[in-house]
Amino acid sequence: MNVFKLEEYLTKHEFTAKYLLCCSDAQSFAMAELVSMAGGKDKELWDKLTLGYTEPYGHPALRQRIAALYPGLSAEHILCFAGAQEGIFCALTTLIEPQDHVVVITPCYQSLFEVPRAKGADITQIALREENAWRIDLDAVKSALRPTTKCVIVNFPHNPTGQIITEEELKGLIDLCAARGIWLFCDEVYRLLGQTDSAPHAPPAASLYDKALSLGVMSKAFGMAGLRVGWIACKNKDIIHKMKLMKDYVSICNSAPSEILSMIALDHKETILARNNKIVAQNLKLLDIFLGDHAHLFEWVRPQGGCVGFVKYKGKDGVDAFCARLIEKQNVLLMPASVYDFPGNYFRIGFGRVNMPACLEQLHAFLEAEHV
Ligand SMILES: Cc1ncc(COP(=O)(O)O)c(C=O)c1O
Repeated sequence: MNVFKLEEYLTKHEFTAKYLLCCSDAQSFAMAELVSMAGGKDKELWDKLTLGYTEPYGHPALRQRIAALYPGLSAEHILCFAGAQEGIFCALTTLIEPQDHVVVITPCYQSLFEVPRAKGADITQIALREENAWRIDLDAVKSALRPTTKCVIVNFPHNPTGQIITEEELKGLIDLCAARGIWLFCDEVYRLLGQTDSAPHAPPAASLYDKALSLGVMSKAFGMAGLRVGWIACKNKDIIHKMKLMKDYVSICNSAPSEILSMIALDHKETILARNNKIVAQNLKLLDIFLGDHAHLFEWVRPQGGCVGFVKYKGKDGVDAFCARLIEKQNVLLMPASVYDFPGNYFRIGFGRVNMPACLEQLHAFLEAEHV
């Protein structure tokens, strides 16, 4: 398999850079704070927890709580994974065979096309375009479909642009897939975060289409990436079972403490999501001001979901040189588009964390020092 450029970039910088300004997850919680939220039953589960193997599909009570996020689905339609990444791996290795054709929207999280490619599939990448406000182009998807197309792969709210798919667009995409019996893999890891009144997010794909797989996770909106708890929701129980057979070759089952902690978080989702969405909304306002003040250098299509955005850099030196200098001189981490193999002078900026204003101050200081 090819090197996962984004993960390799983060491996190099994420734990050494002081100011992380490209994170894709919301503010995390201290474990003690989360445990203190636990009500009677969850507290008992936590206190009496033993560290044996857990159920391969996921704790039944956890699957039940996850299913509550998907109208029309129940626990049997949920398979838990070690993070979203394992879900991508198990789903796409299960679904895709060498003779298949796959359509993927790019730029994207690399495993979304790398796993089908490693299985030998023929991949058509459809690039989102800034001129189209990074929105999905259903005509382009339609023209890419072939009789051998097995799966269409999308990610909304989108990493790295923060753009969304509307309910109407999602239904249009589902119509294209349903008419041809094509699977729809919908990476929805940024759902429940960054929604604005003016741009409501679509419902989860798995609630709308029997052959849709909705990928979810505790990492992003809940800010609990260290739990490594993700899942796939799908109405098709046969594919849930087949993915479980693949999971038997990777993690086998989830971490026991993480399952209970996830249950506690899901029981308090209103409180947790309200806190994180407030941070995102406040940070977005600061970014509006910052990008407006530096319009000669930066420009973006304002994100409508999640906690990342894709900023165009107008400096003559190019975005890779800019990001490299910024980390070296000011200890601030951005993520250039080259990490996504995407052409153009763009970088990903993250605004899910409470220290974003401090990171922005450092970026400002760097620009002052460079006199730009
Ligand atoms: C679009 C997308 N999908 C999947 C993942 C993987 O999520 P996790 O780290 O929870 O496995 C990420 C992580 O950044 C992501 O951005």
